Amino acid sequence: MSSSRDMELTQRFLALQGIAAEAAALAMRYFEDRDSLAISLKGAQDWLTEADGAVETLIRQRVAEAFPDDGVLGEEGGGAVADRLWIVDPIDGTANFAHGDRTWCVSIGFMMNGTPELGCIAAPALGEIYLARKGHGATLNGKPIRAAATNDIARSTLEHGWSPRLPVEQYLATVARLFGAGANVKRSASGALGVAAVACGRTDGYVEGHINSWDVAGGVVIAAEAGARVSDFFAGDWTSGNPIIVAAPGVADAVAEVSGIALSPAASGTD
Ligand code: IPD
Ligand code: CA
Repeated sequence: MSSSRDMELTQRFLALQGIAAEAAALAMRYFEDRDSLAISLKGAQDWLTEADGAVETLIRQRVAEAFPDDGVLGEEGGGAVADRLWIVDPIDGTANFAHGDRTWCVSIGFMMNGTPELGCIAAPALGEIYLARKGHGATLNGKPIRAAATNDIARSTLEHGWSPRLPVEQYLATVARLFGAGANVKRSASGALGVAAVACGRTDGYVEGHINSWDVAGGVVIAAEAGARVSDFFAGDWTSGNPIIVAAPGVADAVAEVSGIALSPAASGTD
């Protein structure tokens, strides 16, 4: 028997897929016509393109049409926490997008009563759509995905996200410790796709000392459903961002210890 909560989530899961596909197609049109795009900096290395605002506006319109009482929190337009909340990054990896690098995505998460329930990360320039519903598994282009079975940090590939919101010295010191533990450390410059990469086993961990909710709201559901361990980003006050760690279960404790970014005990994956 399906509860009204299940029905609400099913409706939103279906809508999420349509909204993400439409948003990704719009973002892709801007990307393909990048030479005529207005590109600016909001702050140091904080990129903004015309596409960010247009894609977020489209997502807000579609959510308002289908679920007028739901809240939307977006990177460009802000918003407030609500019982039914869509968290939107219209373009994650904006620096990549602005430079013509295909590693960017539209990221949408949905939370009900404070719990992340649905996630979609659409990367149209890569031809990839990640999707998950809590308790129902995670997919990439419709096929189930799992986090890697890696169990030795010295065999791991990790991504350490960076932004100018924290001192670069802190970032470099953490990178040095991870290399010191034998990891291969990289940075692809899209936090959402970084988390998705852990979910499908392309990397063994993603860490960042401070990241915003719109970067990870979709990814945490996808990664947890793929069996990764995910820190409890949305516990407590998350509205001004938090640290994040998402890792393959066999290296998660080691990555947490070396990076100094805690895994909450309540925040393990679904298996
Ligand atoms: C940034 C990217 C980056 C991450 C930063 C984010 P933006 O978002 O996800 O990889 O390290 O924390 O702010 O500016 O590309 O939307
Ligand atoms: Ca972002």
